[in-house]
Amino acid sequence: MRAGGTEVNGEEGSGGEGGAFQGFPAEAFRQRRARVFEALGDGAMVLPAASVLHRAGDSELRYRPDSELFYLTGFVEPDALLLLRGFADEARSVLFVRPRDAKAELWTGSRLGPDPVPSIFGVEEGRSIEQLWDSLPGLLTGADRVFYRLGVHPRIESLVVAALRTARLRGARRGTGPRGVEDPGEILDELRLRKDPWELEALREATAITVSGFRNVLPRIEPGLGEWELEAELEAAFRREGAAAPSFATIVGSGANACVLHYTDNGRRMRDGELVLIDAGAERRMYAGDVTRTLPVSGVFSPEQADVYRVVERARREAVAAIAPGVPVADVHQRAVRSLIEGLLGLGVLSGDPEELIEKGAQAPYFPHRTCHWLGLNTHDVGDYVREGESRILEPGMVLTVEPGLYFPSSLFDDPLGGSAEAFAGIGVRIEDDVLVSEHGREVLTKDLPTGVEEIEKLVGR
Ligand code: GLY
Ligand code: MN
Ligand code: MN
Repeated sequence: MRAGGTEVNGEEGSGGEGGAFQGFPAEAFRQRRARVFEALGDGAMVLPAASVLHRAGDSELRYRPDSELFYLTGFVEPDALLLLRGFADEARSVLFVRPRDAKAELWTGSRLGPDPVPSIFGVEEGRSIEQLWDSLPGLLTGADRVFYRLGVHPRIESLVVAALRTARLRGARRGTGPRGVEDPGEILDELRLRKDPWELEALREATAITVSGFRNVLPRIEPGLGEWELEAELEAAFRREGAAAPSFATIVGSGANACVLHYTDNGRRMRDGELVLIDAGAERRMYAGDVTRTLPVSGVFSPEQADVYRVVERARREAVAAIAPGVPVADVHQRAVRSLIEGLLGLGVLSGDPEELIEKGAQAPYFPHRTCHWLGLNTHDVGDYVREGESRILEPGMVLTVEPGLYFPSSLFDDPLGGSAEAFAGIGVRIEDDVLVSEHGREVLTKDLPTGVEEIEKLVGR
């Protein structure tokens, strides 16, 4: 059976772009839908596919399916919509897809069409997306609420709004119809936060490809190399090993560019004596890797660079060691903050009482971001970090990054705070690993990419 131009369930196209299911079993998606139905009660959920995006006029970017729709179906074509009807006795799950169209398929590739949808994807009905406009409001009648994300798809939103209007008018007489809209994330984020074994398998692949890509290209670092050349080499290595794409815009920041947190120009040549910060990830079967290493362009850290590097590396190590089931995720950040503040005291950048410095967040000028984010289908994956005012407690199956950094951009030195950090001007260091919370502790998925000073120097190899 073919879908989206690629074997359904097959390994064909290891780059992963376009293959239905992306190598996951249909059972994975069925189980997730079952869990959504448990939470849905008499509600309905409406999940449209991601839009096709363009750059520079009508040039289409390669399509990346919507994470939520994929999570519940494995379907990867655009112009689709999943409707789940918790209140209904029939047509409880309907997947709307593009109809077959020989002319259109000549331009953009084959379409599955609605007919084979139920047997392949395990939903009760497959319908043409062209029927959506007439049928969606009626299909929502009977739901007590609709889980739908507002503000993303104006045309579909108008249908949901129409259903709500009709329900309000009719409901007064018949007592049926949705009266409120909630975000699908209210149900899906909690499920996606705890990865199932299939997701963990994909994350292991994504992180392994990411690590392998780094290992392959780091020996290429040398004075005069363009940041863009390293970007290209790294992304080529990811693709060669089966990544569909980089999971986010690759950052290769040399010299002062290492201090720009979301630097993506990658347009400068690296120079002898500088650091280069590389933050990149491979997306494999829809799941993201996300790794940062900071390396000396010459192959050897200067004493000041090594001083800063060791502080960040200790913070990374201690924050990783803090990860375990039962630990609030905020504690992982706090562990990194404490470690960085102790390090900044040691470097003479800060002075004073460590507890007071932690209390007032004295690391912020040098470490302006958080230590962790969830990792999964999205690089910055879904899930609240705080629930009812309390930090989220880590559980087995959660996956998060640990990415402390210290940055001394020249802008800092216009600020009296920065005076004692002059020796480190222009240095930026971040070290980032991907960590799975395991039954009794943690597993660093990216552990095969070293972080120690000597090992990093060896990786550059000069
Ligand atoms: N590169 C995005 C991040 O590390 O969060
Ligand atoms: Mn990153
Ligand atoms: Mn990250």
